[in-house]
Amino acid sequence: MRKKIVAGNWKMNLDKISSKNLVLEILDKTDNNDINIIISPPFIYLEDSVKDCLRRDNVLIAAQNCSSYDNGAYTGEVSAKMLSTIGVDYVIIGHSERRQYFNESNEVLNDKLTQAISNNLKIIFCCGEDLEQRENNEYFDVIKDQLNSTIFLLSKENFRNIVIAYEPIWAIGTGKTASSDQAQEIHFYIRSLIKDKYGDKISNETSILYGGSCKPSNSLEIFSQHDIDGGLIGGASLNSTDFVSIIKSL
Ligand code: PGA
Repeated sequence: MRKKIVAGNWKMNLDKISSKNLVLEILDKTDNNDINIIISPPFIYLEDSVKDCLRRDNVLIAAQNCSSYDNGAYTGEVSAKMLSTIGVDYVIIGHSERRQYFNESNEVLNDKLTQAISNNLKIIFCCGEDLEQRENNEYFDVIKDQLNSTIFLLSKENFRNIVIAYEPIWAIGTGKTASSDQAQEIHFYIRSLIKDKYGDKISNETSILYGGSCKPSNSLEIFSQHDIDGGLIGGASLNSTDFVSIIKSL
């Protein structure tokens, strides 16, 4: 009923040749089936990746960011419209690295959501608690606040463009993964929040991905949980063997 997705967030890694090779290897080693594979290279490789993946319905391209502005004198920014016009399908918004290192507030995230939606981009929206919040048992409230002040402000119609990624910050790039039970607990909670806000149907149709040190050795167990519909993969998406093995485990 809801989409199964494995998305690879390359962050600021790889050069032109290795990124091209990685896309081609992923295409070569996967089938055209009902699992959606999303590849998220740095801006500069997006257009080539879009072209390479054109012939595969289940391989889609995400930008890692977009501007909160429409267009104009914003040196260094890339607009949602620019992404959309080169054939990008998704944009990642709310990643903890953007919130933390680039001071992206909820207000900025909401402007980015508006830009993405008005330019027909789908969104992978990230949420997740840090270690202190986990240890103080505040994580339910943290997640609820993050969602209430961002994507839950969207209309029902616009919310259909959202895929949620639950990424506990303490698990990102650290090698520490949430246990499958810890992840399921939050995914179930997020789905129940969606149900309260938008109703049963939308809550059952919204894909919720897990992210944070997901790799071939733990993906099968994580993905076997009822409310986990796939993963947002960082480090392990940089090599085709690992990434494809994660896709196959889904
Ligand atoms: P990681 O990153 O898989 O390297 O932990 C996940 C992410 O930041 O999306």
